Amino acid sequence: MRKNYIYIVISLLLIAVSTSCSQEKKQYRIGVSQCSDDIWRDKQNSELKIGAYFHDNVDLCFAAAYDSDERQIQQIDSLVGTGIDLLIVAPNQVSTISPAIDRAYDKGIPVIVFERKTNTKKYTAYMGADNYEMGHLMGEYVANRLNERGRIIEVMGLKGSSPAIERHNGFREAIAEHPGIQVVATLQGDWTEPTAYNTVKQWLDKNKDAAGKIDLVFGMNDRTAMGARKAFEEAGGALPLFCGIDGLPGENGGIRQVMDSLLDASYIYPTHGDQLLQLAVDILEGNPYEKETNLMSALVTQDNARVLLMESEEIMRQSRHLEQLHEKASQYLDQLGSQRTLTFVALAAILLLLALLAGIYMYYLQRARIQDERTRMEREQLDFYTQVSHELRTPLTLIQGPLDQLLRTNDFRTASDNARELFTIVRRNTHQLTALVNKMLDAQVGGTVTDDNAHEETQHVASPQSAGNVKPDEDAPTVLIVDDNADIRTYLKSILQGKYSVLEAEEGKSGLDLAREHVPDLIVSDVMMPMMNGLQFCQEVKKDLISSHIPVILLTARALEKHQIEGYESGADAYITKPFSPELLLARIDNLLQSRHQLKDLWGTHPAPVAESAVQPAVAPAPIEDAFISRFKQMVEERLADSHLSVEDLAAGMGLSRVQLYRKVKALTGSTPVDLLRKARLSQAQRLLQESDLTVSEIAYQVGFASPSYFTKCYKDEFGIVPGEARKS
Ligand code: FRU
Repeated sequence: MRKNYIYIVISLLLIAVSTSCSQEKKQYRIGVSQCSDDIWRDKQNSELKIGAYFHDNVDLCFAAAYDSDERQIQQIDSLVGTGIDLLIVAPNQVSTISPAIDRAYDKGIPVIVFERKTNTKKYTAYMGADNYEMGHLMGEYVANRLNERGRIIEVMGLKGSSPAIERHNGFREAIAEHPGIQVVATLQGDWTEPTAYNTVKQWLDKNKDAAGKIDLVFGMNDRTAMGARKAFEEAGGALPLFCGIDGLPGENGGIRQVMDSLLDASYIYPTHGDQLLQLAVDILEGNPYEKETNLMSALVTQDNARVLLMESEEIMRQSRHLEQLHEKASQYLDQLGSQRTLTFVALAAILLLLALLAGIYMYYLQRARIQDERTRMEREQLDFYTQVSHELRTPLTLIQGPLDQLLRTNDFRTASDNARELFTIVRRNTHQLTALVNKMLDAQVGGTVTDDNAHEETQHVASPQSAGNVKPDEDAPTVLIVDDNADIRTYLKSILQGKYSVLEAEEGKSGLDLAREHVPDLIVSDVMMPMMNGLQFCQEVKKDLISSHIPVILLTARALEKHQIEGYESGADAYITKPFSPELLLARIDNLLQSRHQLKDLWGTHPAPVAESAVQPAVAPAPIEDAFISRFKQMVEERLADSHLSVEDLAAGMGLSRVQLYRKVKALTGSTPVDLLRKARLSQAQRLLQESDLTVSEIAYQVGFASPSYFTKCYKDEFGIVPGEARKS
């Protein structure tokens, strides 16, 4: 239960972690294979990076082949091997790189070919400017610039690379339209400045005469044009015009060179790295995209170079800002990330703590439950053993008791030796069995089992009378037996009836009724009875004004000390356990009856005022009895002068029947109400004789005597002297 709870909490924790992870976007790895490494490629790569800032799920892997086919092929294969999701490639040459591109494409990796073309159809999209048109426009510009007449040199880009082929085609076709323009030489370059310088230098070395007659050199990119210019400068003489392509911004870029008149014109060859990255993301995310994207470009001449430079520098400045912002944003994101981790760890710790607390709580709950269960079982066990012992003790009582009685009869004394021996064996074993029952109960519940019979020998023993033989006196005390077991009742009756008049009830309720009606002198009650048990019965008896004074003996098989305590708490006057000795029972009854007349001297020779306690009983009466007696005494004294005052009147005044009042008063004081009334009158008379001047006759009437002579007789009976003598003294 407790473990399960902790597992649930930990699972929730893991689910929370996994969902927070699964909510993150899919991460993409894009491989960028550049054919060369130069400022144009640098610009494009940084634009790609800026583009990636807008997509935090994109990682870029750059590779530069430094114009080598083999290296580029190898780099593409290795990018594919590292598990890229998309390949962007600017192939060095048209045909050489195609197999590597095919391999990537065949593996299901989308391929974007950009800027340079290949001869394979296995690509996903193409993006680049129109190099043919660029060459054509440049041809137009040159013809125009030279006013349709002039000698020019064309320095080519890398052989086999698509821009070189297309620019050449466009340029030558445009020039062909202008017969006054003569292409003196077409030299082979490879897009780099040193190569251009070398080839032009070689040509110049070979054609020394022609050098001064060249009007314009078209280098297929700005670096080529600048290489050619360097060679011409070295050769000396008037310099031709130089035109290139790329028109890059920045200190060493073509725009600046045009502005500084190092180049006559250039053509902006668009890089558009950010646009390229967006295309890649669209492909990866399944968004619609253009298969072929043609990038626009523009001519850079002396006329617009300044404006273009300013604009491009502004763009570069903004780009730098963007990068700084990105830098800052990354820092914040890093902080956020670590804060999030911290929060998560704290949350996890709190959850674990809660789980722990819950676990501890559950543990204690469980323990308390087990404890409750144990207590319940112990109680049930105790009840069971109490029940069993009760079941055993009752028949034991009914064997042991009658047997003991039998042993005292003449029948036993005159029996044969053998029979007597056998009886003795039975008796001994009955006692042994009782001891065993006690021991068993003791061992099972760990309480103290009391055995009243242990005191048997030391008790003051009044021998019980033989059952049914002796009738009690008329005014023998009455004992009420309350027990649901008829045998026990019969047995008890057989013990008691010689000495007491016996009343019987089968259970508590009828017992109460009998107690109220007859006001017995003592009650012997069982504890375990149906409906109203002995404890409740005892409480009821002690609560009721009519019966409250009656001593109650609880006679029961519930032998544990705590049961006895319960019994005394319910108001019992004695507690005797079964099997009991009849002598013990009789002794207890005797004892209780002896000590019950607590208030004997209600109106003795020295009557006290009503408000004070008139008596000094050996045992202080219960408050309820005290109240009863006070009330009774008050009533008598108030109505003392009434010679017609009867016991019925007094009983009615107390809310009791005549019998009830009689028995209650008799039990408490040992005198009858009539006796007490007379004593009260005489005592008052005695007081008046001593303290007043009234005549004897007047006093007799005043204390409720109908005739003075009867008063005198009674007075003499009570005090041993006639009233006149009392006055004299
Ligand atoms: C850069 C570059 C540019 C040129 C282009 C042709 O690597 O050489 O200067 O315009 O490539 O592909």
